[in-house]
Amino acid sequence: MREYRIAAIPGDGIGVEVIAAGLKVLDVLAARDQGFKLAIEHYPWSSDYYKKHGHYIPEGGLDQLKKCDAIFFGAVGAPDVPDHLSLWGLRLPICQGFDQYANVRPARVLPGITSPLREGQDIDWVVIRENTEGEYAGHGGRAHRGLPEEVATETSIFTRAGVTRIHRFAFELARKRPRKHLTLVTKSNAQRHGMVLWDEVFYEVARGYPEIETQRILVDAVTTNMVLKPWTLDTMVASNLHADILSDLAAALTGSLGIAPTANFNPERRFPSMFEPIHGSAFDITGKGIANPVATFWTASIMLEHLGEREASLQLMKAVEAVTARKLLTPDLGGEATTAIVTEAVCDAL
Ligand code: IPM
Ligand code: MG
Repeated sequence: MREYRIAAIPGDGIGVEVIAAGLKVLDVLAARDQGFKLAIEHYPWSSDYYKKHGHYIPEGGLDQLKKCDAIFFGAVGAPDVPDHLSLWGLRLPICQGFDQYANVRPARVLPGITSPLREGQDIDWVVIRENTEGEYAGHGGRAHRGLPEEVATETSIFTRAGVTRIHRFAFELARKRPRKHLTLVTKSNAQRHGMVLWDEVFYEVARGYPEIETQRILVDAVTTNMVLKPWTLDTMVASNLHADILSDLAAALTGSLGIAPTANFNPERRFPSMFEPIHGSAFDITGKGIANPVATFWTASIMLEHLGEREASLQLMKAVEAVTARKLLTPDLGGEATTAIVTEAVCDAL
């Protein structure tokens, strides 16, 4: 029997609700499949934990986490902790510490769900986000604090190594997709150093992939193409911040942020990869039992594929799509179903 160690970090807000739902579905799936077992390790790291202990990740925590096969993450962010503290306290130390440089965000309209775009029903995109540097490098500082001449800098970092590996990853992923099409998202007209390197390296890497059709589009222009000509896009590679913004737009155009999954990959598998819904902690609906678990189920399916359980991964997505097709939807998608109802339905479909 194949066995995988999964570190579950529900974190904050609806992260707790959707990870519980995800674990339930994974449990049913494993029981049914009989080929693999999941050993779930529960980590209580969250903003409540931070308020009690003064840190999100305890001493030695990352070393412990490193031993698992995958991390199943909910969300981090609480109304009474500054967002930059929670983010840099929990999620970013894992992404950056485990060199999870390739963030993958698929966007597809699931059966039974309607895109807000007239021409959006066939959207099938993947946004690939550089996940360890760029605008999120954390490089910068503040001086003259509190004085009128106070200054703050936030420097983006683009390294040749970092840019090369994400573009290579993007070409490899585009190659596995039917359309073999990759869009380079850039802003090298205004950002004349880092983004110019970003473009140059893209075309160096492109030479190794003559079968992939490429196009280069400025990030502002790509937003209009996503809305007005969605069929012109397939796989997109973008910097950390650009892809952050584009992936929320992509999620909205496929119906809701509540369905969008993501994977933070360390492609070389030197460290575990991390899987999470992209929606965040959503304190406005926390505790109401109406969080959409679909993003987490989709995320779990990607996690299974990464672990090598392709059949189970496909089964899970099939079950999720059977449920959405029946219009069993949570309020973010205009339905009335609760987290529990959707979860039960997916378990039944399995
Ligand atoms: C995301 C989120 C995070 C990000 C937030 C929570 C800081 O929006 O995963 O897209 O910007 O990376
Ligand atoms: Mg985001």
